[in-house]
Amino acid sequence: MKSVVIEQPGQLNIAQRNVPQPDPGEVRVKVKYASICGSDVHIWHGHNPFARYPRVIGHEFFGIIDAVGAGVDPARLDTRVVVDPVVSCGHCYPCSIGRPNVCSELQVIGVHRDGGFSEFALVPDANAWALPDSIEDRVASLVEPFTIAANICAFLQPQPQDIALVFGAGPMGLTAIQVLKGVYGVERVIVADRIDERLQMARDNGADLALNNTETPLATQLNGVQPTLIIDAACHPDIFAEAAALASPAGRIGLLGFSGAPCTITQQSLTSKELSVFTSRLNSHRFPHVIRWMAEGKIAPHKLITHYIPLNEIERAMTLFEKDPRACCKVILEI
Ligand code: NAI
Repeated sequence: MKSVVIEQPGQLNIAQRNVPQPDPGEVRVKVKYASICGSDVHIWHGHNPFARYPRVIGHEFFGIIDAVGAGVDPARLDTRVVVDPVVSCGHCYPCSIGRPNVCSELQVIGVHRDGGFSEFALVPDANAWALPDSIEDRVASLVEPFTIAANICAFLQPQPQDIALVFGAGPMGLTAIQVLKGVYGVERVIVADRIDERLQMARDNGADLALNNTETPLATQLNGVQPTLIIDAACHPDIFAEAAALASPAGRIGLLGFSGAPCTITQQSLTSKELSVFTSRLNSHRFPHVIRWMAEGKIAPHKLITHYIPLNEIERAMTLFEKDPRACCKVILEI
């Protein structure tokens, strides 16, 4: 089989490997479509602190179960599935309270273990979620990025009367906008980005107001409007303090960033308004929710997709994704 392997930082190969056999409890997925995420690019460039090399990357993928290991119901064969990349131990403290995404022995498919930019991938049976026929093959790999938005929103509990502000109109910001509008019915969703083309995507994905904050600070543009719910999907370290300054008293802030750089923020800016701050990593058990939202048409994954590119052209696809945020949002690999 062909697999996209990052041999070591900076070295991307399409390798020829033997088709693997599933271990007990595993299924083998014949991958049909996979989507590129920023973290795939970071692993390629050696910027993901969690990655181990050599690594088959890819954690957003869709396919069909074509083999099952011992102990797995053979009725699972031929099932159309999307794969939750979170593999957890099941017995540590976070696992015991339903938060396997921060398991003390967390393994992320495509990061700590081999992933889905490959003709076949082995995954635990429990990670392979069956899809209804109403979700098309060509958009199915986008279930995973929507689970990120689902996870932060589960903490933030958006309400229709919220005034939401989303920093960043990349894939993460756009999935958040769609979930805020389509699932939670938030009436006012404001989005800030520095790139006009991305702001147009924000509008196309449901934003009520899209603001370019390159030159004029958001505080000026908002003109006294205080968001009650803020999601940082741009993840620059300065944004946390800006969000705290902009937020309404009793507002909630959701952070998604992984930067190692410090954020400078005062206790006063948080406590004087009694702000709630939530962080969110990957997802905990959100696949069934997102699959249902997609099947019911509450979210529209096709609105994020700008390119379909064959697996053989992986380097071109990853470079386009990385270098051209004006023209490119989600790139789907045809396997
Ligand atoms: P992206 O780079 O495609 O999008 C970020 C957007 O933010 C860009 O359009 C950029 O122009 C905009 N931006 C940058 N600085 C800004 C500022 N000061 N104000 C307004 N907009 C600004 O990235 P993507 O894929 O959407 O991911 C966003 C972030 O989410 C990344 O930092 C990534 O590491 C993080 N992430 C976190 C996850 C989690 O589970 N916590 C999962 C996936 C991604």
